[in-house]
Amino acid sequence: MERPTWAPGEVDLERPSAARVYDYYLGGYHNLAVDREFAEQAMLAMPELPLIMRTNRAFLRRSVRYLVSQGIRQFLDLGSGIPTVGNVHEIAQGAAPGSRVVYVDKDPVAVAHSQVMLDGNDNAAVLLADMRDPESVLAAEPVNALLNWSEPVGVLMFAVLHFVDDYEVAQQTVRGYLDAVPTGSYLVVSHGTHETVGERGKQVERLYTRTDNPFTPRNQAQVSRLADGLELVEPGVVYLPSWRPDSPEEVEDHPERSSTYAMVARKV
Ligand SMILES: C[S@@+](CC[C@H](N)C(=O)[O-])C[C@H]1O[C@@H](n2cnc3c(N)ncnc32)[C@H](O)[C@@H]1O
Repeated sequence: MERPTWAPGEVDLERPSAARVYDYYLGGYHNLAVDREFAEQAMLAMPELPLIMRTNRAFLRRSVRYLVSQGIRQFLDLGSGIPTVGNVHEIAQGAAPGSRVVYVDKDPVAVAHSQVMLDGNDNAAVLLADMRDPESVLAAEPVNALLNWSEPVGVLMFAVLHFVDDYEVAQQTVRGYLDAVPTGSYLVVSHGTHETVGERGKQVERLYTRTDNPFTPRNQAQVSRLADGLELVEPGVVYLPSWRPDSPEEVEDHPERSSTYAMVARKV
């Protein structure tokens, strides 16, 4: 197939990518036939997948606004994805102009598209890196140029830790960033779970082994333990729609349909 202009040379056009599949679910344009086919197959098992992704983006908006309301003005967004509407810098800078944001992703399409979007924005940058190596990420130029280590940071991990298959590595990754930031910083996580979907979830997990990002759902206790040593912000570790909905109309009768836990925790 012909390479689209937005797909850098290192992109394998025959293999679905988690970043581009997610872009397709959200109605974006940076996906290939192989990603769309993959996404449609996963939807045969879990037709609610696009809704889950939108619910995740809504949690991203609410939690970033919450962090801004707590005085956070700098953000490290790990596994930031292919930009879509309502990105972290738009929300943070919209609420508090001058807020600084560094995006990190290992997907070349996500990074190339972020670069285009951030052109001319002096307070936001993107880094192509594997977030499982906090030491390298924290030493990288755009991170150090924009983030001030004496001020609290919002460390954001939306829908990315379930792509780290080894639980210990997931824990070490979180700790690597939280150890480097000062007291008063926040960790925000959304993380897939298959506690209520049974065999339908297993089918999706089997499909994801075909991508560069096998999917590893975790239960509520495992997600909670990622924030060990931090202070959980109320209401704790809950399904996405139940984390501080904007209005009573947004309260869901079946929040477990999001198959994703949300949590915000503070370094004390
Ligand atoms: C489902 S998307 C989530 C995007 C965004 N955080 C959101 O919630 O809207 C997951 C993203 O994590 C990225 N990712 C997965 N593993 C990663 C790793 N080890 N380091 C950096 N990025 C990673 C993928 O490339 C993809 O863009």
